[in-house]
Amino acid sequence: NVNASQKDFLHISDFDKPTLLNILDRAKEVKALIKSEERTYLPFKGKTMAMIFAKPSMRTRVSFETGFYLLGGHAIYLGPDDIQMGKREETRDIARVLSRYNDIIMARVFAHQVRWGGLDISKSVLSYHLQNKIFIYRFLLLLQDILDLAKYATVPVINGLTDYNHPCQIMADALTIIEHVGHLEGTKVVYIGDGNNIVHSWLLLASVIPFHFICACPKGFEPDEETVKKAQGAGVSKIEITNDPKEAVRGADVVYSDVWASMGQKEEAAQRRQVFQGFQVDEELMKIAGQKAYFMHCLPAERGVEVTNGVVEAPNSIVFPQAENRMHAQNAVMLHVMGL
Ligand code: CP
Ligand code: NVA
Repeated sequence: NVNASQKDFLHISDFDKPTLLNILDRAKEVKALIKSEERTYLPFKGKTMAMIFAKPSMRTRVSFETGFYLLGGHAIYLGPDDIQMGKREETRDIARVLSRYNDIIMARVFAHQVRWGGLDISKSVLSYHLQNKIFIYRFLLLLQDILDLAKYATVPVINGLTDYNHPCQIMADALTIIEHVGHLEGTKVVYIGDGNNIVHSWLLLASVIPFHFICACPKGFEPDEETVKKAQGAGVSKIEITNDPKEAVRGADVVYSDVWASMGQKEEAAQRRQVFQGFQVDEELMKIAGQKAYFMHCLPAERGVEVTNGVVEAPNSIVFPQAENRMHAQNAVMLHVMGL
């Protein structure tokens, strides 16, 4: 589903390779302008962005708000208690109202796409439940569907993380790898841990840009099978899913880690700590990876759990330049989808 001129930024694989490389080049240019304290480049002047957060955030919130402001615009933070997408109000109504006030929408929600036997339940079931005054909190949380938001919004919608993927993070990661390794194409990126939203975005990137991606995860915590098949089927990158972290990391350019229990899974944290034994990125694993391996983590990190304090603080850890690049990558993504 490559469509280089499409309105939204929902999945990396909606864009072709020249478009993604062009966005990353733009990120470098705008980063240099911001670093030089140039304050005359104001493409977002007179524009506003609505930022919907159904989950907590530090990097995503601050990087989007700061980036939009530095380029002349005004961003509005809407926290979990403000909009209550799918709970206080239907997603399709929120999309159309915000599109009348704002030039762009960024959203961090739970569900990526709500489908039930091919039915789009985010509209039909919600209306049914509202009419019958049945308010089941957990169930309604599921109805915060980013694809529905994008479908009904007339302005660009940017995915700031769903349970399924995190495309802005992977754009920042790609930029960071280009800056540190020199190139993304042909590098070996080894992810250790849960086959989660971050992995899905890596897989979708690997279906467009050629590199070697390995996900080493415990049995039963593999990434979504359909997404793995799609990425492997694209025939662009070498993609491996394994349960052996030690074998996977040999010769890596990047060893990447994320929390074992994502937002929405925190009640499983204790049990996951048992299952994920052997998947901690520690000094020994980095030694097996080899001298050239950088350590990356989307953050927030739980030191002593998925990664040791020593690995986060080591000279080859690039987690803070990586976090900074969230802002620069997203500025370029916003410029792209807004046609600026
Ligand atoms: N990496 C990331 O998305 O961080 P936040 O959850 O703090 O936004
Ligand atoms: N997998 C993590 C990423 C946080 C940025 C989560 O979804 O909580």
